Amino acid sequence: MVSKLKNINPYFKPILESLSGLADRLSVRVYLVGGVVRDLMLGEKIFDLDIVIEADAIEFAHKFAEIHKKQFKKHHTFGTATVFFDNHHIDFVTARSETYSFSGALPKVKPASLKEDLLRRDFTINAMAISLNKSDYGKLIDFYSGENDLKKGLIRVLHGDSFMDDPTRILRAIRFEQRFSFKLERHTLKLAKEAISKNAFNLVNPHRLREELVLMLEEPLPRRYIKRLYELRILPLIDRNIRLNKKDFHILVKIEPAIEFYKARFKRHRQLEDWLIYLMGILYRLKSQDASKFLDTFGFRKGEKIRILSLYDNMDKIKQLNRKVLSHVIYKTLNPLSFENIIFFYAYCQKKAIKRHIEIFLDKLINVRLRLKGEDLRKLGFKPTTLYGKIFEKLLYTKIDKGFKTLEEEIREAHIIFENCQSKH
Ligand code: CTP
Repeated sequence: MVSKLKNINPYFKPILESLSGLADRLSVRVYLVGGVVRDLMLGEKIFDLDIVIEADAIEFAHKFAEIHKKQFKKHHTFGTATVFFDNHHIDFVTARSETYSFSGALPKVKPASLKEDLLRRDFTINAMAISLNKSDYGKLIDFYSGENDLKKGLIRVLHGDSFMDDPTRILRAIRFEQRFSFKLERHTLKLAKEAISKNAFNLVNPHRLREELVLMLEEPLPRRYIKRLYELRILPLIDRNIRLNKKDFHILVKIEPAIEFYKARFKRHRQLEDWLIYLMGILYRLKSQDASKFLDTFGFRKGEKIRILSLYDNMDKIKQLNRKVLSHVIYKTLNPLSFENIIFFYAYCQKKAIKRHIEIFLDKLINVRLRLKGEDLRKLGFKPTTLYGKIFEKLLYTKIDKGFKTLEEEIREAHIIFENCQSKH
């Protein structure tokens, strides 16, 4: 028998062997399962391990964590536990079966055999296990022909009710299909379409749909995933106001190089949340109120909502940058925006002048800081202090336009601004 664990990242080898030893000492059956088995067989990199135990998983994980003196966290509600090794998680779960009392409901769970545990899973390629017990260490356990489907490149459900039980699996199916350039198996595609036509998404907790949507938009080249959601007419089902036309896909295509441009040129700036920019590409044509409703329904976080909604408030302001403007106008327009907004506009606006102004902002203007401090103004006898905010704002804009290099230049300009302010009072 060729061990399926032969090619695993060497970091995990002693961990798996230790799991194996403990399993035999406690006389319990222990398996590696799910996505990690699929990824191992595809030769993909492994980061975390999912372990199924045909016994109490929390107890097993606790003993394992003690042996290795690692952090241990149990989740009683789910009967699962996690042990943390450096940056890697090892998740333990008791083999269990699940029954759904109605579509989209949380399943009722009870301990079961590995075979039943694998049957409750989404797709054949995610329903394989590798034994970790010494007697058959590294042996593939494949009750549902997952290996065959991996070879053929097929996403196949394990039973006819899978999508109705858990409609988020429709999004997962698309995610795996596009990630691995696989195909939805014919009957599986038919079942997905049936579930879609029965409005299965209405049955799911919207937060779970959000999670799946974000995971999809976090994959490389999300445009492909969005296209597939569109082909299967899923987007309008998620929100009836979302309709994408050719022009919208054009924008999604433009977002990719815009993100690359940012990453290559502005390494020192904050890391982008790329998925948010793609979501902007899906939502920007909605009315602001509809987008707001969508973001609330799916439980998007406050900061995410602010960033997306500020698109609508700034669309017209950005268009003002399509002409010759002073540098401080560029700064004033772009500085309040998130990097995600700026990069969306960089992709969306085709006018060369706007793009150039965005580049100038990110390259230069964003880094301009005043040397002058409040303390300096106080020493120079500027009063009242309530004017300082205004002085600093004007001074920064003038510095941006004139490119002051020294503190003396700033002080000279501060005097002029101060006198102007006072004569207006
Ligand atoms: N699973 C399932 N139905 C779901 C979610 C998960 O059956 N709706 C099962 C699958 O067997 C899956 C495993 O739980 O392989 C782990 O789920 P998750 O970590 O979400 O997926 P992975 O397959 O590991 O995928 P990824 O590589 O995206 O993490």
